[in-house]
This record gives sequence, structure tokens and C-alpha cells, in this order.
Amino acid sequence: MSVYNLTFSPTGGTKRAADLFTRSFCPENICIDLTSHNENYSSYSFSEEDICIVSVPSYGGRVPSIAVSRLRQMNGGKAKAILLVVYGNRAYDDTFVELQDVLTDVGFRNHRPENSAPDVVFAPVNVLLRQ
Ligand SMILES: Cc1cc2nc3c(=O)[nH]c(=O)nc-3n(C[C@H](O)[C@H](O)[C@H](O)COP(=O)(O)O)c2cc1C
Repeated sequence: MSVYNLTFSPTGGTKRAADLFTRSFCPENICIDLTSHNENYSSYSFSEEDICIVSVPSYGGRVPSIAVSRLRQMNGGKAKAILLVVYGNRAYDDTFVELQDVLTDVGFRNHRPENSAPDVVFAPVNVLLRQ
């Protein structure tokens, strides 16, 4: 079983939140940078025992399209996914739902009944980041 920290973070805010959360969840984790141009994303394949913490920013209330296309190259392999969305205090709109749909499409496990919204937990990330 491995814990993965998959992060798309063009300007670093999402990565700071993701690292903080992932480290407190499991100090020994494997980072996958979804921002990198030089990665062969189709080489990533997870297994049922793995836990993947997938973090993206909300852009226009959606998952950034480049992050979607990179996630779509991976094989979820029935791994569990924890979804983390960072936004700029306007609104995250459909970002969680879209991220859930993409991850389910590529084979991550979905514990939610069909058509139900994912659980959303509000965390005071700005407060956490100042610590
Ligand atoms: C192109 C763009 C679109 C954004 N759209 C939204 C939005 O719809 N709602 C919101 O609350 N914040 C929005 N933001 C703010 C980002 O979600 C926020 O700054 C986030 O921390 C950026 O993540 P990063 O630092 O990992 O790149 C947007 C930022 C950018 C650059």
C-alpha cells in the first residue's frame, strides 16, 4: 500500500495545501507533479490498496483542462482517491464533481451513489498555511 500526493499547481498554492494535508495524513508519501510537461503520465498505474490524494485548483469553477488530460492518461486501478480543491474564495462551482467524474472514469474507486455530490469539507487552508 502506498500513499500518493498528486498535485496540479501552476503557482504553488495548491501544492502548499496538498503537501500540508498529505504530510499530516501520511508522512511517507510519493509525489506526482501533474504540472510537469516532462512526465509520461500513462506510466502511472495504481492498485486497490493505494490511496491517492488528488489536489487541483479551481479555474473558472472547473478542473484546469490540462490537469484533466493528464489524469485521463493514468490508470486508477480501483485505488481510493481523496479529492482536494483549492480556490480563491469566489466559488469552486463544479470543480469537485468534475474531478470525481474524471477519477471515476479512469478507474479510481467511487464510494458515492451515482449522481450524488461528493462530500465537501471546508478546511481553513489560509490559517493552516500560516502555521
Ligand atoms: C485562470 C484562473 C481562474 C480562476 N478561477 C477561480 C474560480 O473560478 N473560483 C475561485 O474561487 N478561484 C479561482 N481562481 C483562484 C485559484 O483557484 C487559486 O488562486 C488557487 O490557489 C490557484 O492555485 P495554484 O496556486 O496552485 O496555481 C482562479 C485562478 C486563475 C489563475
